Amino acid sequence: MNIESVLITGASRGLGLALTERFAAAGVRVFAVSRTQRHWKQALARIQNKELVTWLACDVTDESAVKALFQKISRQAPLSLVINNAGYGGRLETIDKTPAEEFDRHITQNLRSVFLVTKYALRTFKKEGRGQLINISSMAGTRAVPKLAAYSAAKFGVIALTQAAVKENADSKFWAVTVCPGGMNTEMRRGLFGAEDAAKQQSPEFVADKIIEIVDGKLPVDNGAAIMIRYGKISAITPLPGM
Ligand SMILES: NC(=O)c1ccc[n+]([C@@H]2O[C@H](COP(=O)([O-])OP(=O)(O)OC[C@H]3O[C@@H](n4cnc5c(N)ncnc54)[C@H](OP(=O)(O)O)[C@@H]3O)[C@@H](O)[C@H]2O)c1
Repeated sequence: MNIESVLITGASRGLGLALTERFAAAGVRVFAVSRTQRHWKQALARIQNKELVTWLACDVTDESAVKALFQKISRQAPLSLVINNAGYGGRLETIDKTPAEEFDRHITQNLRSVFLVTKYALRTFKKEGRGQLINISSMAGTRAVPKLAAYSAAKFGVIALTQAAVKENADSKFWAVTVCPGGMNTEMRRGLFGAEDAAKQQSPEFVADKIIEIVDGKLPVDNGAAIMIRYGKISAITPLPGM
């Protein structure tokens, strides 16, 4: 693989863990971040090349914690790639019944978090003269899903952040894309739609394999693009819109 190191948020389960497994197996140094240490033991049992994975607890909605995270990593290794994967599903509710606090929680957990990690990733990449960023949005970030309005709104915002980062850094060796998965069989999906529904969804491992192909250049995508991965296939690739 043509990268040396990767920072993955939400690495302790679901898609983040599938990515952590794959990058470590490919010999890439992984900084695996999650909010808590709750799933680390279970996660570790699935990882080959355990010595390549550094587990870090950080709440990515907290700016001082994110700043400290990047400082800590920069003392250990240059960073090639950052994957903004941590997210929050919440519960199904129509707009008229959604408490404002729950809306705020989606914006904080699913958008502010991506903004903060992108901000400090860009500062790091500017010092290093290059860098790659993958932001995980959702199919719900490309067309609104009823009863998931707050989640959808935040995930639409994630695509905007990727596009803005690419446009602001067009004259540098910075590359970023958004990946928009459809439903995946993870704890988030089980929490929202139940275990029976989750079992029918594509696996996080499949989506992780597609992301590895993108990073490897086997699935070529242009800077700023959004890649939709749904029902176990790439369903669309949308290019960066012009100014
Ligand atoms: N599952 C789906 O159907 C689906 C579909 C489309 C898009 N997505 C998106 O794909 C991404 C991964 O989803 P998933 O289903 O794999 O999620 P998941 O199974 O719920 O795992 C969430 C991960 O994010 C971490 N996390 C949550 N809040 C955090 C915070 N504030 N700071 C640091 N880490 C935090 C969790 O750590 P702790 O365990 O310590 O809390 C956990 O490692 C998310 O962005 C999600 O929105 C999911």
